[in-house]
Amino acid sequence: MKVVADTIAPKTGQANMPDYDTARADFSWEEVEKSFSWHETGKVNMAHEAIDRHAETWRRNKVALYYSDDERDEKYTFQDMKFLSNKFGNVLRSIGTEKGDRVFLFLSRSPELYTSLLGTLKIGAITGPLFEAFMEQAVRDRLENSEASVLITSPSLIDRVPYNELPHLENIILVGDGDAPEDGDVKFFRYEQEMEKNSRDLNIEWVDREDGMILHYTSGSTGKPKGVLHVHNAMIQQYQTAKWIMDLKEDDIYWCTADPGWVTGTSYGIFGPWLNGVSNLVRGGRFSPEDWYGTIEKYQVSVWLSAPTAFRKLMGAGDEAVKKFDLSSLRHVLSVGEPLNAEVIHWGMDVYNRRIHDHWWMTETGGVIIANYPAMPMKPGSMGKPFPGVEAAILDEEGNELPPGQMGKLCIKSGWPSMLRTVWNNEERFKKYFPFEGWFDSDDLASRDEDGYFWFEGRDDDVITTSGERVGPFEVESKLVEHPSVAEAAVIGKPDPVRGHIIKAFVALKDGYTRSDELEQELSSFVKKGLAAHAAPREMEIRDFLPKTRSGKIMRRVLKAWELDEPAGDLSTMEK
Ligand code: WTA
Repeated sequence: MKVVADTIAPKTGQANMPDYDTARADFSWEEVEKSFSWHETGKVNMAHEAIDRHAETWRRNKVALYYSDDERDEKYTFQDMKFLSNKFGNVLRSIGTEKGDRVFLFLSRSPELYTSLLGTLKIGAITGPLFEAFMEQAVRDRLENSEASVLITSPSLIDRVPYNELPHLENIILVGDGDAPEDGDVKFFRYEQEMEKNSRDLNIEWVDREDGMILHYTSGSTGKPKGVLHVHNAMIQQYQTAKWIMDLKEDDIYWCTADPGWVTGTSYGIFGPWLNGVSNLVRGGRFSPEDWYGTIEKYQVSVWLSAPTAFRKLMGAGDEAVKKFDLSSLRHVLSVGEPLNAEVIHWGMDVYNRRIHDHWWMTETGGVIIANYPAMPMKPGSMGKPFPGVEAAILDEEGNELPPGQMGKLCIKSGWPSMLRTVWNNEERFKKYFPFEGWFDSDDLASRDEDGYFWFEGRDDDVITTSGERVGPFEVESKLVEHPSVAEAAVIGKPDPVRGHIIKAFVALKDGYTRSDELEQELSSFVKKGLAAHAAPREMEIRDFLPKTRSGKIMRRVLKAWELDEPAGDLSTMEK
């Protein structure tokens, strides 16, 4: 366990959430449900609660979405968002889409991404947002597994969609100008034309709170990415955590820097803020310190949620960059996705005069589980304490709770409102999340201290978090062995001061091939072009053989130990 650092006291008298112990003592999810009228009527739909509900009040003229990138600078009220998403719901119905169908999005950040996602939910279909940097294999795996019938994409991305080889895909809706195919084994539509044709009034599909809402694909240590299914009921947790952890208030301008292709970009880039009726800023384009600080200044951002990699890059850009901008609008700053070093928090106190609030959760949990709260003293380096309505514990290999100070499996008492409901088409994998009766196993290792604060210790599996993005080693290895020169490949995460981890690949070549810098570069770009840039190995080592168990499984843990100069542990099963 890490040394317990000094605590940083909260600013007093401002937060939505009362002090931690009081909040925990009185907490009930049933009370939170009463914030929504469906508690009485039984009729629920996330898009209604996030948008339409506000469009029926004085908030109709309040800005819901500020959108900007290098070319666009636009704002949309709650009423605009209601009408646009209604229209899109009608577009989908007009091409025969029904409740429960999977409607996937493969688009760069744009207002159209947000309105079509909401329109999809309005007709009771299940949305599946894909990260725009995905290449063909990544897109194919997800569309194949989900059996999506509709894809919303753009002419610039259509080359990466193998639409003639996806039997379930029936319709493609193209957003924006540009040449694109017009026929094939699917029907093509143009977003602008279809929106023009359809009405802004829609009969919303009321669904059951347990009906499917969103599929996020995420990586594990083996196999293809898994489709984690969340249901409309997740709103209870997303609403309450956004209110208490992001501390959202009526006049806030909230900026979550995550893309909706990742769970943070939907749970807290769409649902959390809009369930609370708050103005939400989306900034497209690429990261640069000047651009980000300029964005905060221009839009007067008051609540800012980002990731450790971004904060480390901002720290690396130096304090001068901060001084050029007026960041006085910032009230609350948050970080998620990987460990936030205490050093970064101390730097944040120096330059922003704000605490950066680390919190922990994962795709499977749908909402935040452990957090540093605005009104709670912070121990830099700790993830904080479990959300008032949630129980988390550190368990040993047999599922027994460990005492404070000991490292073990970070597990959550099953049944929190935004818990995943299944793994799409893979009930067996879903069951594996629950190795001990009543507990979900996160596959993270952590410890808890005497004061109840949780400390992250590492992953319990081979999953790599690089620049805050989760990468499964198996996907990268599978891609590498598709290359004609590669006999075998193994991939590990190697610690890196900025990115948290980078991907390092160990490769054994087929007979007739020899190592060269060109070949290493070619292999890396092969992964980049096939999967995604963030999945490409930044380091590569070509070896004569890879360590294997006698049953033929490549031992990633041994490669990692060798790489880090650490003891390799039990080698008894290793093939000699
Ligand atoms: C890691 C992102 C340390 C962890 C919301 C988890 C963290 C995985 C933290 C989930 C944190 C997330 N400190 N590690 N505050 N937050 N992680 O599914 O290993 O993309 O299991 O969800 O990121 O990543 P995912």
